[in-house]
Amino acid sequence: MELPFAESYKIKMVEPIYRSTRQEREQWIKEAKYNLFNLKSNQVFIDLLTDSGTGAMSDRQWAAMMLGDESYAGASSYYNLKKAINDITGFEHFMPTHQGRAAENVLFSVLVKEGDLVPGNSHFDTTKGHIEFRKAYAVDCTIDEATDTELYHPFKGNVDPAKLDKFLSENAAKVPFVIVTITNNTAGGQPVSMECMRETHKIAKKYGKMVVFDSARFAENAYFIKVREKGYENKTIKEIVREIFSYADAMTMSSKKDAIVNIGGFIAMRDQELWRQCSKFNIMFEGYVTYGGMAGRDMNALSVGLDEGTEFSYLETRIKQVEYLGKRLTELGVPFQFPSGGHAIFVDANKVLPNIPKEQFRAQTLAIELYLEAGIRGVEIGAIMADRDPVTRENRYPKLEFLRLAIPRRVYTNNHMDVIAVALGNVFERRAQITKGVKISREAPIMRHFTVELERA
Ligand code: F0G
Repeated sequence: MELPFAESYKIKMVEPIYRSTRQEREQWIKEAKYNLFNLKSNQVFIDLLTDSGTGAMSDRQWAAMMLGDESYAGASSYYNLKKAINDITGFEHFMPTHQGRAAENVLFSVLVKEGDLVPGNSHFDTTKGHIEFRKAYAVDCTIDEATDTELYHPFKGNVDPAKLDKFLSENAAKVPFVIVTITNNTAGGQPVSMECMRETHKIAKKYGKMVVFDSARFAENAYFIKVREKGYENKTIKEIVREIFSYADAMTMSSKKDAIVNIGGFIAMRDQELWRQCSKFNIMFEGYVTYGGMAGRDMNALSVGLDEGTEFSYLETRIKQVEYLGKRLTELGVPFQFPSGGHAIFVDANKVLPNIPKEQFRAQTLAIELYLEAGIRGVEIGAIMADRDPVTRENRYPKLEFLRLAIPRRVYTNNHMDVIAVALGNVFERRAQITKGVKISREAPIMRHFTVELERA
């Protein structure tokens, strides 16, 4: 018999979690104003709010923490990280930031000005936020296939080269750079093919534009290239990653994802002049250029995390777990963005709760139902997160309404995946009885989903 698949690690430390009662959860979600961000973590049994900063570090990472150099300037931890980033990405210059959005803030302070247009593939909400905050616009050039959740496409996160080329031919003067998010989080943790990166780079260069990669999940993207794209099956993840970054001029990184640390980020680039311009903002917003808001010990853990996160055995364990949850949900008939993504399952709330008016926020309603069912916390990636149009202030209703179930790295077992699948299956079975959604009673002017207050419609 062929041996079954198993994790490429064993568990050395555990953290108890509490299985609450439905009655407790009814009370807690009401107190949280039906916003799952407001729940206390001990009110949650399985926490799938995000895969960001929620991973389990390895013994090697914890050991590296102890060797952290906390010198203000020129710490050895900084040089360890510089070497790790150079080895993995090939970028010569880098600066640490406290997380990914801080990297966006610093880089966009240099590159983005009022009236600019920034094309890309489904910009993540903080990326869009940092663009719109500067009175510029994020322009989505993702392939149309991404919006059909039942359709198989191996690289559903791709930029559409024809859309990008057309957009640049008409608007090049207002475009500071093209941004490619790998993997494409908003479209469902979907990968971008190497072919697409190569093509995007070529198109951008035709118009003399820089290419920036939002690289939070670059290693998961490389895994999909290895297993799905012709010509890459015999390459190592590290070789694939090197080629990926050869198609970018700069990258922003949220290290909390594929570098498996609890906090941290960075910007890396080829051009020293760009580094000089960024350093001014980095010093103002983040910290001196050799720590940028990070402790020396955290930079050390990040250096090790970049190495571990780009090992095939780790990535295979990681992505097969997400795939396993996807398979269980398919058996139960629950519709989600297919195929399953790298870091999460994106449940198609439009298909689960079509009877709820979209103005009553289907994905949020589904998130609340799943929490009530089993204490599982997911996150809405739909109309609440899409915010209002910055000019008209009208609600924006994206084509896709997702309940995202993000799987933290190296944290839960497949028994937890089984609980998630059955809980969601139960909600799916009683979907016809869920007829009322929620309405907003208070919201912030930008990135409202974090703090929005809701009530039953
Ligand atoms: N880019 C992408 C693609 C992201 O997914 C995130 C964060 C960021 C940038 C910002 O990084 O959180 O370190 O400031 N995504 C998290 C998520 C929050 O849950 O998907 P950050």
